[in-house]
Amino acid sequence: MHADERSARAAADVARINAFFPIMPVLGNRWAASRPFEGRTIVLSAHLTTLTATLLRELSLGGGTWIVVGASEATTDQGVVNLLRDYGMDVYAPGGREDHLARALDHEPDLLADVGGLLIANAIERRPDLAKKIKAAVEVTRSGVTRLQGMKLPFGVININDSQLKYGVENRHGVGEGLWHSVQTLTGMHLSGRRVGVIGYGPVGRGVAAYARAAGAAVEVVETNPIRRLYAHYDGYPVPRPEDMLKRVGIVVTASGRIGVLKVSDLAGAREGIVLVNVGHGNDEIDVQGILSASSGVDHVAEKVVRYKLEGGPTVVLLAGGHPLNIVMNSGSPEPVLLHFALLGLTLEWLTGNPVAPGMIDVLPAIEEEAANLALQALGMGHG
Ligand SMILES: NC(=O)c1ccc[n+]([C@@H]2O[C@H](COP(=O)([O-])OP(=O)(O)OC[C@H]3O[C@@H](n4cnc5c(N)ncnc54)[C@H](O)[C@@H]3O)[C@@H](O)[C@H]2O)c1
Repeated sequence: MHADERSARAAADVARINAFFPIMPVLGNRWAASRPFEGRTIVLSAHLTTLTATLLRELSLGGGTWIVVGASEATTDQGVVNLLRDYGMDVYAPGGREDHLARALDHEPDLLADVGGLLIANAIERRPDLAKKIKAAVEVTRSGVTRLQGMKLPFGVININDSQLKYGVENRHGVGEGLWHSVQTLTGMHLSGRRVGVIGYGPVGRGVAAYARAAGAAVEVVETNPIRRLYAHYDGYPVPRPEDMLKRVGIVVTASGRIGVLKVSDLAGAREGIVLVNVGHGNDEIDVQGILSASSGVDHVAEKVVRYKLEGGPTVVLLAGGHPLNIVMNSGSPEPVLLHFALLGLTLEWLTGNPVAPGMIDVLPAIEEEAANLALQALGMGHG
């Protein structure tokens, strides 16, 4: 497809998404009038999907210089890259490679917005000279928050991941819905009567389990935290040991936000033909390298669907190379994602006028309420 065509397709997607849940255009109109980002330079690292384009389109109406870095090659839509360049932004993509982050930071930003914590970590560790100039940052994911919690933060980082709205709406509903839509698109599988295993029962795992059960699957949950394992039990799921779960299930989803929770050694006794799916932020929850090294045969079944014969073990089918499937497939359920994007935009707007102390900071309750009210209006329920 020609670059202009890709850009036009991405623009059409943005218009379609905004037509049914117009939360971002409302904010864009407001920012176009008040121009809160005028004179600021903001570096934003993100998965470059059409949803991200809807956010950036409106943010750019508020003035300022916007520099964008693709968080991962696997989640970069080239049509979106072209579209963002049409909006006048500098875009470093595909990929979240270190040189792209370094070049983005060379723009000497006032504010950072990150997904996964790598941009913020690079700014702190590799560009300590920038720490005084950077007023604040925003982090959106669990993985990023975990990464940054181990670091001394020289500026304030607003934690969007643990906001009530991201936790309760996007992580809990959006990811599960989008993930199963992606699995169906890639494999054609219907979930009714299938056995599904979920590793990790945080808000993401909980939503993945709930949407699989709603579609008719028999779901089992593996969780190391005893409190969350108990939640899973009372939500009605068996909570077996991982090795027992892997013997039974036909599809397993990693949703732990931790590296290597599904190792090749765990798969030795797994059910023949088991389908491996990751929904966690990175591509390291499933030990893909271990699977490649241990496999005696590889069969490219379809795009993003690869079957490996493990030596002395079962055949396994890996979707999207272990990258977060709903994001790779660009089927993050739009409304919940746009809701947390509204929160992100409102927080950046607030940071332009309000200094914050160094360290990790919760999103302001007033900003959460404002985002929730905007969402209710977008749904035609803006009373009260
Ligand atoms: N794909 C997406 O669109 C999307 C959206 C939001 C978040 N995420 C990502 O999903 C992941 C999970 O997010 P969350 O908010 O639910 O995180 P969370 O930390 O609240 O929950 C993860 C759970 O996994 C459990 N866990 C850790 N190691 C385990 C192991 N070895 N076996 C079993 N359980 C284990 C933890 O005890 C925890 O309860 C993160 O990587 C997050 O960044 C992805």
